[in-house]
Amino acid sequence: MKLSVIGLGKLGACTAACFAYKGIPTIGVDINADSVNAINAGKAPVFEPRLQELIQAAGDRLEATLDFDRAIQDSEVTFIVVPTPSRDDGHFSNAFVEEALADLASALKKVRKKYHLFVITSTVSPGVIEGELIPLVASVSGKKVNKDFGFCYNPEFIALGSVISDFLNPDLVLIGESDPKAGDLLSRIYEKVCDNKPQISRMSIPSAEVTKISLNSFVTMKISFANTLANICERIPGANIDDITRALGADKRISPFYLRGGLSFGGPCFPRDNKAFSAFAREAGVDAFLAQATDEVNEVQVDRVAEKILQDLPNHKKPAVAILGLSYKPNTPVIEESPSIKIIEKLLQAKDLLVEVYDPVALENTRAHFGDRVRYSTSLEECVGSSPICVVATPDKAFRNLRREWFRFQPTTIFDCWRILDRVALGNGIRYLPLGISVQNSPGVFDRPVKLVGKSR
Ligand SMILES: NC(=O)c1ccc[n+]([C@@H]2O[C@H](COP(=O)([O-])OP(=O)(O)OC[C@H]3O[C@@H](n4cnc5c(N)ncnc54)[C@H](O)[C@@H]3O)[C@@H](O)[C@H]2O)c1
Repeated sequence: MKLSVIGLGKLGACTAACFAYKGIPTIGVDINADSVNAINAGKAPVFEPRLQELIQAAGDRLEATLDFDRAIQDSEVTFIVVPTPSRDDGHFSNAFVEEALADLASALKKVRKKYHLFVITSTVSPGVIEGELIPLVASVSGKKVNKDFGFCYNPEFIALGSVISDFLNPDLVLIGESDPKAGDLLSRIYEKVCDNKPQISRMSIPSAEVTKISLNSFVTMKISFANTLANICERIPGANIDDITRALGADKRISPFYLRGGLSFGGPCFPRDNKAFSAFAREAGVDAFLAQATDEVNEVQVDRVAEKILQDLPNHKKPAVAILGLSYKPNTPVIEESPSIKIIEKLLQAKDLLVEVYDPVALENTRAHFGDRVRYSTSLEECVGSSPICVVATPDKAFRNLRREWFRFQPTTIFDCWRILDRVALGNGIRYLPLGISVQNSPGVFDRPVKLVGKSR
């Protein structure tokens, strides 16, 4: 069997590399010649841990081209992994998927072959595949679904920074299938590729479309719930968000994942998918109150942290803030919808101050975004030594290596949004303010703790 993957971006390049690494010859197709050339030169076109290693290990089994015809001629199954950005009304735009499918369908029209399977991996709204995409392929190619070609919806539940291990060890493989033949073929590929034995959930295409969009919406709801809890903990003397979420997460009905009070969720998927869930529900005549509230909590969380920093500024002579962590999560250069970037925007809008930033992999993207509006440090030490206020904005393990002597200001305030630093090792002279734990004797920085009365205590 040979596979093809259309779109060699953050997810598609990893998908193609994983297939080829696992022994299946794979052709990558993209409209961007740089990505195609990179793959053909054995180089990763995007940053993602282990991607380079897998491309090298795949060797000749992985090749790339700008030619869509080759995907149809030289492979049996084509995965479509092109962007589906948000439209103004919250729905996903299918423009790139339609463009790619139209090219593939006209290639299909030209060849004589018994069967070709199209797999949509890009996130789409419910109803789109059967309502728009299958009819598009049928009309352009002049061929029949479930006879000449099959269709599957197979969205991934991976996270940037761990795409490869998530892809090879998924909890769930979700397959929406146009008929059992299409689903059987796709299931066999995953049985060959996965390192684990994941649950393979097969269903109709509309069910799979609703499953995908609901999953991310549910996860973001969990994150916003944990963040609300963290905010409450700050006002309850003695309460600690981590003790509470650990206990809550031990209950199987809740589970510990994505239940950690901290900064807002961000990135290319979560905020967009949650908005799409609301838009899709509205269209179906249902108000998605939970999804809407999730978004509101998410926005407020950024405001709260920015406000705390601004309130702390007058406690220091130098109006400067060091921000550690710029991407929306560790181990990725992606700064799209990053809470850290939003906090910096708010600080710069509110005050004339110096913002010094550091991130192990996201500095370049941050420079493209802010230009000379902020200052860039090339090391942790340089960054934290620049300012009397330091914000740990992502739970990057590298930040645990902060050393007491690097803080040059007396006092220095540290806002630890993920509670990853060792407060004791930091010693005296540091005002350590973890998000989600009540800190007394710091009036004006955190909301003053409330006094609890009654039995609920
Ligand atoms: N990145 C993630 O973490 C993630 C997770 C789950 C789902 N997804 C979904 O996967 C899809 C792709 O996301 P991504 O992050 O890889 O996007 P990306 O922007 O990183 O990459 C998309 C690639 O598609 C190429 N492309 C655009 N139009 C094309 C066309 N007509 N033909 C061929 N190639 C084309 C671009 O040049 C680019 O290389 C999206 O629908 C996204 O929602 C992404």
